[in-house]
Amino acid sequence: MWFQFVNLARERAKHFGSEEAQDPAKATPTHRGHLIPTLSSSVVVTTTADEALADGVLTSPEEEKEFEMKPRGFFADQFENRSNYYAHLDGTGPEIWRQTSGFIDAFVSGAGTGGTIAGTGQYLRNKKEDIIVALTDPEGSGLFNKVKYGVMFDRKEAEGTKRRHQVDTVVEGIGINRLTHNFELALPIVDDAFRVTDEEAVAMSRYLVHHDGLFLGSSSACNLIACIRLVKKLGWNNGERIVTILCDSGNRHYSKFWNDEYLAKADIAVDMHLVDRILTGEA
Ligand SMILES: Cc1ncc(COP(=O)(O)O)c(C=O)c1O
Repeated sequence: MWFQFVNLARERAKHFGSEEAQDPAKATPTHRGHLIPTLSSSVVVTTTADEALADGVLTSPEEEKEFEMKPRGFFADQFENRSNYYAHLDGTGPEIWRQTSGFIDAFVSGAGTGGTIAGTGQYLRNKKEDIIVALTDPEGSGLFNKVKYGVMFDRKEAEGTKRRHQVDTVVEGIGINRLTHNFELALPIVDDAFRVTDEEAVAMSRYLVHHDGLFLGSSSACNLIACIRLVKKLGWNNGERIVTILCDSGNRHYSKFWNDEYLAKADIAVDMHLVDRILTGEA
């Protein structure tokens, strides 16, 4: 039996921008949920739930009381809850090991809760002692310094520079300024860390759409920048294999990371050639 890898995303990228892809009426149901075409040329981005949950559905005070009192959620506390770590130790790690048949030289991951890097990294380290586990960390996060120097500190926190509302990065899902229990579990097995700027993350996301047909979110872009940095640092060019996680789709990032107007206001450049320069070692 043999398998042939077909990059469907790359195939789709060839047709990116064609008339059909741009016509909102022909958008897929998932797109329709987020993008509402209006009479003007603007587009409304919404996360509104379906009509059944809209205002006014609860008609009587009794119903409202019941709605208020009924337990409607479960606090998983994924930052401190060790089940997060175990899910990756028992799930993601073995899955990667199986899919690579153990041919893996490094694992690169960002950390929000820290569960992914801790659990997956630990499993892979148990399997292969000399595997490199590396963290990618966005601007404003303290994890990079924690890994490199043992201190949880980012220069944006320096006395006299800390703002009341710390808007420090356009990257979402990774980076944090406190030590979570799940990240604490990662500390003994993380070998290296790479700081990724907003400009680099944005540039990588645009590069991936153009070259690979992959429309991804910000933490995925950070992971891939860190992969290049790691390869460059170690001078790898002999078929070494790095595994990383492409955490979510660009669909989740329309309002900031994939919004050029927002990026311009935030003074974040969209440099279409930055990744090329990183690849050649010029940046
Ligand atoms: C988009 C995205 N990327 C990365 C992460 C980080 O994963 P972890 O929480 O396992 O560190 C998260 C966490 O929720 C996320 O939502």
